[in-house]
Amino acid sequence: MIMKKHLVVLTGAGMSAESGFSTFRDAGGLWDRYPVEKVATPEGFEEDPNLVLGFYRNLRNRLYAAAPNAGHLGLVELEKDFDVDIITQNVDNFHERAGSRKVLHLHGELTKICSSRSPDDPKMIRELPPDAPYAKVGDLAPDGSQLRPFIVWFGEAVPEIEKAASIVRSADIFVVIGSSLNVYPAAGLLGEVPKNAKIYLIDPKPVDTHTRLPITVFREKASSGVRRLIETLRTAGTSD
Ligand code: OAD
Repeated sequence: MIMKKHLVVLTGAGMSAESGFSTFRDAGGLWDRYPVEKVATPEGFEEDPNLVLGFYRNLRNRLYAAAPNAGHLGLVELEKDFDVDIITQNVDNFHERAGSRKVLHLHGELTKICSSRSPDDPKMIRELPPDAPYAKVGDLAPDGSQLRPFIVWFGEAVPEIEKAASIVRSADIFVVIGSSLNVYPAAGLLGEVPKNAKIYLIDPKPVDTHTRLPITVFREKASSGVRRLIETLRTAGTSD
């Protein structure tokens, strides 16, 4: 039996831009319109839980009004020839809806809520069905604390980072799509890529990777970049 090569993809906000989801740091991105410290920190939540819950409720509504794009679908296609692991910084569920089988969320998920006392406690994390209303002020987790979005905010630990690092350490091919690589520890995953792995980066703008590793860059949007990746890997063959 021929083992499939391990292809690990790290995705960021640019992956979902063509689905109509704003990136964070591009001009007109989310952080221009909603100050990070208000909607993406535990202190912001404490100060104005109504505002924060409203912000994530709106994002979740937009999520269900939007769909995965050709880039997400292309990554599913790669599963025919590769053992694909997706590590995403995105809180949307487009990879899952496209059909990707292995998706690890580093920064949480818009479709879930959790306890504000122990946000990482798996027993407190609940998936909301698409038609269920979002959490409101006064809605409590099983531990009696206010329910909050299951999002890893600034200043909080990233519980899945070790799992992500161990996935990256066995990559034969590592691909970064649509991330400015500004946010750690996610950006540090590049440092875990094995020496002999081939690295690709897909982004329409130049990205400072903070590394001297050789990287093949496709300066394109996710949709056409993933198409080009599929063609490049096909030409290179999957068994070399
Ligand atoms: P950024 O907004 O920092 O970077 C988005 C990247 O996507 C930029 O490099 C853009 O050039 C690129 N881009 C824009 N349109 C694209 C397209 N159509 N196809 C491909 N790339 C495109 O987003 P992230 O790096 O994901 O955390 O940001 C990391 C984290 O910062 C996010 O997960 C978020 C934020 O704080 C949380 O929400 C917890």
